[in-house]
Amino acid sequence: MAEAEKKLFLQVRNLKKSYGHVEALRGVDLDVYTGEILAVVGDNGAGKSTLIKSLAGALVPDSGKIIVEGQTYEQLNPRQALDLGISTVYQDLSLVNCRDIATNVFLGREPLKYRLFIDKKKMVQDSIALFNQLKIHIPSIHALVGRLSGGQRQGVAVARAIKFGGKLLIFDEPTAAMGIQETAATLSLIKSLGKQGYAVIIISHNLHQVFSLAQRICIIRQGLVVDTVSTADITPNQVVSMITGAAQVPS
Ligand SMILES: Nc1ncnc2c1ncn2[C@@H]1O[C@H](COP(=O)(O)OP(=O)(O)OP(=O)(O)O)[C@@H](O)[C@H]1O
Ligand SMILES: [Mg+2]
Repeated sequence: MAEAEKKLFLQVRNLKKSYGHVEALRGVDLDVYTGEILAVVGDNGAGKSTLIKSLAGALVPDSGKIIVEGQTYEQLNPRQALDLGISTVYQDLSLVNCRDIATNVFLGREPLKYRLFIDKKKMVQDSIALFNQLKIHIPSIHALVGRLSGGQRQGVAVARAIKFGGKLLIFDEPTAAMGIQETAATLSLIKSLGKQGYAVIIISHNLHQVFSLAQRICIIRQGLVVDTVSTADITPNQVVSMITGAAQVPS
């Protein structure tokens, strides 16, 4: 997507969250644009998942603002986050293994025929069109989700998120438990989502992956954003020293 087409989708301002005595987020600021892949990196316990859970409405921050397409919220609940187009893509969760792919894409929002019957034909046709559009490869639309690989299940979860109006897709360590081929498929899917104009946040410990995917990198350390930089303007070694604290950290 051309630079000019990027739009500010979400802003985080001075977000704070403590768990008892642990200050997980100490005033985080972040801007997220459509058509851009933003990587969030940081050491174990830096606050990455806490940040993502706040955006997905899975937890309530203590203070700060989440601004989505210009609308300001102090907190979100999961339903609200989904309605605003914020989707966290989990690999297995929220999918039903014993049902086929099309059923999973439409789960809970099945189209009806004559307002009475579930329109299975439409579910299958729409799902095929969606998988083609997203360039997600699956063996057959009729395959049971439980028989798919982790990467393919992630594809189904992405298709479902987009079908439900997802505009920002958040991946927390999407390839952590994957083999080489699955990882490659997942990364190419994430890349194509950015190109298609979705906003994408990916949390990853794999800097090679981060540098090959993301346009910008947000480095978090001890609950604070050290910096958010263009991938083109920084080296992996510089990112490592910002993650570990060898570089200067805001106080
Ligand atoms: N439910 C919880 N109760 C208490 N403390 C928590 C809870 N969740 C997270 N923490 C603490 O908050 C801090 C931030 O945790 P968080 O899970 O956001 O880190 P992370 O950056 O996602 O780490 P990782 O890379 O290991 O996934 C850590 O010190 C963690 O121990
Ligand atoms: Mg985490």
